[in-house]
Amino acid sequence: MTAAIYLPQIMRIGAGASAELPQVLAELSVTRPLLVTDPFMRDNGYVETVVSALDAAGICCGVFADSVPDPTTDSIAAGMASWHNGDYDCVVALGGGSSIDSAKAIAVLARHGGQMRDYKVPNPVPRGVPIIAIPTTAGTGSEATRATIITDCESQEKMLCMGYGLMPAAALVDYELTLSMPYRLTADTGIDSLCHAMEAYVSKKANPFTDSVALAAMTAITSNIRRACDEPQNREVREAMMLAATWGGMAFSNASVTLIHGMSRPIGAFYHVPHGMSNAMLMPTVTEFSLPGAPVRYADCARAMGFASAGESDASAGAALVAGLYQLNADLSVPSPGAFGIDRQHYFASLGSMAEQALASGSPNNNPRVPTAQEIEHLYKAVWT
Ligand SMILES: NC(=O)c1ccc[n+]([C@@H]2O[C@H](COP(=O)([O-])OP(=O)(O)OC[C@H]3O[C@@H](n4cnc5c(N)ncnc54)[C@H](O)[C@@H]3O)[C@@H](O)[C@H]2O)c1
Ligand SMILES: [Fe+2]
Repeated sequence: MTAAIYLPQIMRIGAGASAELPQVLAELSVTRPLLVTDPFMRDNGYVETVVSALDAAGICCGVFADSVPDPTTDSIAAGMASWHNGDYDCVVALGGGSSIDSAKAIAVLARHGGQMRDYKVPNPVPRGVPIIAIPTTAGTGSEATRATIITDCESQEKMLCMGYGLMPAAALVDYELTLSMPYRLTADTGIDSLCHAMEAYVSKKANPFTDSVALAAMTAITSNIRRACDEPQNREVREAMMLAATWGGMAFSNASVTLIHGMSRPIGAFYHVPHGMSNAMLMPTVTEFSLPGAPVRYADCARAMGFASAGESDASAGAALVAGLYQLNADLSVPSPGAFGIDRQHYFASLGSMAEQALASGSPNNNPRVPTAQEIEHLYKAVWT
């Protein structure tokens, strides 16, 4: 059986990669970019740096700086208004996964019209205008994925849209942009990457290409995440985390995520928990549940993460993995849903709809142990404290 692998056409990776935007636009034969970003990037000089570099190259760009964390159909509508205000031929995303996902949605709607709900899984996504992604978190890996996640303001569903039409034409992966990430953002986004890699590795759609990048990402993240949080200016550590995030994106985009992400999206949509943090809340408990479905694969994860030694039995490595993930959460001060401030009564009243949305995303079907709706509800209960 062959594996179908989709990646960006162009990648520039390393310190200063983002400064190469003008050359990359020229390589793609586009000249009129709309920059899609958020208020933090605008207010902290990042937008100015990019706009000046483009100016110096004689390229005039428009700026939409109102992308929001966990983009919604309403925030995308505002982005579309900006798009229609100019004469653009591509979108450049500058920011975390939210800005990149916003740019992806704008790229598709700009060329094909309609609403994002028309493109949600399992519907296909046609190619939009070219997307150039410059991530500033490490991270969602969205710069190298064919996914975008947009919350439907009518149904409050965090919709997963998947298709090659959402793959950036170019990704400029510049770890220097992540040096400003504070502790919590570093921890949450790093665990998001770790989940991408682990879920891709145990997914039913895993393949030798995704396995190699997933294992490399798991090793890099567990060896560096604590230091990235504690030493934000440590360039070596930031570089390792950034590369691992892109590897994680490549892995899950070509092998799928599984149950952690399937269950995480509804928590994000209902309670506005940051994406990586809701993954973290679920990660150890869901891994414990899934372990019997792929004990050998999970043992590989434990070894890659440094939680088990090469010679250790699979059973012992599996147990060490679960313990190691609980410890990682404790070390990074990941709150429980209750400690985060989610209302207990609301949470327990929403279990049915959260389980339904988790299953509808399709991700749990790729889990090594496919859960029933009842088992998903049980897992949501188990992570409540
Ligand atoms: N498309 C995909 O493949 C994919 C994969 C995983 C997650 N996602 C989505 O990505 C979104 C989450 O993205 P995220 O975790 O990167 O965060 P984000 O983009 O939502 O950003 C969170 C906050 O961090 C700030 N920030 C970004 N970079 C910073 C930096 N360098 N320094 C300081 N602050 C910075 C932002 O301004 C924002 O306020 C969610 O909506 C999630 O569903 C998408
Ligand atoms: Fe994610």
